Amino acid sequence: MTTEQPIVIAHRGASAYLPEHTLPAKAMAHAMGADFIEQDVVLTHDGVPIVLHDIHLDSTTDVAKVFPGRARADGRFYAIDFTLAEIRRLKAHERRSPNGEAVFPRRFPAIDGISGIPTLAEEIALIDGLNRSRDHQAGLYVEMKASAFHRTEGQNLPAAVMQVLTDADWDQRKDRVFLQSFEPDALRQLKYELKTVLPLVQLIAENAWDESGSVDFDAMRTDAGLDAVAEYADGIGPWLMQLYQGVDDQGKHQVTDLAERAHARGLIVHPYTFRADQLPPGIDSFEELHRLFFEELQVDGVFSDFPDRSRALSEKFANTAKASP
Ligand code: G3P
Ligand code: CA
Repeated sequence: MTTEQPIVIAHRGASAYLPEHTLPAKAMAHAMGADFIEQDVVLTHDGVPIVLHDIHLDSTTDVAKVFPGRARADGRFYAIDFTLAEIRRLKAHERRSPNGEAVFPRRFPAIDGISGIPTLAEEIALIDGLNRSRDHQAGLYVEMKASAFHRTEGQNLPAAVMQVLTDADWDQRKDRVFLQSFEPDALRQLKYELKTVLPLVQLIAENAWDESGSVDFDAMRTDAGLDAVAEYADGIGPWLMQLYQGVDDQGKHQVTDLAERAHARGLIVHPYTFRADQLPPGIDSFEELHRLFFEELQVDGVFSDFPDRSRALSEKFANTAKASP
């Protein structure tokens, strides 16, 4: 699969402007012309897929106030310990660090929430409705979060997600839905057991983040690793610093050949996460970041917290490329 103009994936919605994964943030992303809107998905105790980045509720909701005493021994409140009825009593807020401070201090105030946590079905209904009422067709970009953890809790996250997509009539829309995971096993389950036709994107973390237990992301970025990914996936979603590694003494951008080697295997490349308020070292502006990734690295799309600005820059650099001899 290739795309002519790089796509813009609204990362957790228009999350630079409204609390992540709330329906207002998704509606705003749609209004900003995002090509795809991202859903990170976990399950409730009663097995309902909800749109939430963490397996925990405490960084982005008022769960500690509403349900004191429901944390596990590690002090965290796990979404899987709460029924949907209980989760409906929570309000989402801008992400806070454990000491209570806003993770992105210049964004929407990290005050107690104004909006609840949507189910995946509710979010799809919103996007369906906006696709109908507006002259713009946004797609879904669904990440299964911590499928192995869900398995240890007796839950089957990929199957639950596919059931929602099937019920909403999105399970065959291979031009409008991507499925993503950091876990190769979850992607293989989707392809070989659940037999999805939807394109699959292998996310690539750093081993140091301890994102997915035994997965070796260093090995995944080697030629042999990419060969293996290409057997079950259609693309990769690398951390942007795996493609760009700062500047040398002369101020020249240092890039890797990961995107080139992925493209050589027919894999699309959608790096994360583009944030105007958290630029990588050696990059002076959001425009420069997009120019580097679109023009030099030729990525096929980006996950962006600022879908309005990334959309404009995608158009700008696609037009520049077309105008070149
Ligand atoms: O899914 C792409 C990107 O969102 C991965 O990072 O942690 O924001 O889900 P994360
Ligand atoms: Ca994600």
